[in-house]
Amino acid sequence: MPEGASDSTPSQQSPTDATWAVLVAAGAGERLDLDRPKAFARFAGRPLLAESLDRLDRCPWVHAIVVAAPAGWEEPAILLSEELATGKVVACVTGGATRAESVRNALAEVGEEAVVILVHDAARPLLTDEVVERVLGPLAEGFEGAVPALPVPDTLKRVEEGRIVETVPRDGLVGAQTPQAFLAPVLRNACAGDVSGATDCASLVERAGGRVAIVAGDLHLLKITTPEDLAFVESWA
Ligand code: C5P
Repeated sequence: MPEGASDSTPSQQSPTDATWAVLVAAGAGERLDLDRPKAFARFAGRPLLAESLDRLDRCPWVHAIVVAAPAGWEEPAILLSEELATGKVVACVTGGATRAESVRNALAEVGEEAVVILVHDAARPLLTDEVVERVLGPLAEGFEGAVPALPVPDTLKRVEEGRIVETVPRDGLVGAQTPQAFLAPVLRNACAGDVSGATDCASLVERAGGRVAIVAGDLHLLKITTPEDLAFVESWA
């Protein structure tokens, strides 16, 4: 438990004290074709989960962390966090069947004193303090959420059964990344209802009518899905 996390009240807190991170790491990562979940794939000499966990732990904007681990891998996740001597990990929960359900399980362990919640994919290991700072900015300007994103450079096609059926205009389209930041009550409300089909948290907040800002993403936050991605991102580490 981080120092002061249990006995502070909202009025006593600095914004940093009140920012909690949920690290979702419960995906199977089937496309990596390993004998273990993606979060425990080897990355720069240690489990992939270690990279984002370490970076969140050292991030000055983050006060406390809740990890969603794959079912059966909670113990290794806790041991990893102990090995890394992370001071901010408060809980490790069992992830759900979908990403949104993993987030919901983790939210149950996020302290009531949290004002802002960051949600980050362990599959995007190269998190920086700068991107965390960028997503926190709009929350002080009246937005309820903020998402880092990159422009989509390729021409987009809708495909059915191996045949192009439509070219989708890419004007105004971006690729959303994580960490995504939200006002805590807004995220809790958005995750309390039907979360089916949601591939990120912003979509749930948007569905509930929340205002979500876009900030500059980072190429290095590429999500690891395939063995090629793993090698590529590892070369940047
Ligand atoms: O599967 P996807 O690429 O959307 O996963 C994004 C992030 O969500 C990954 O870090 C993965 O571990 C996490 N996830 C999860 N629980 C799931 C599915 C994915 O925590 N059931």
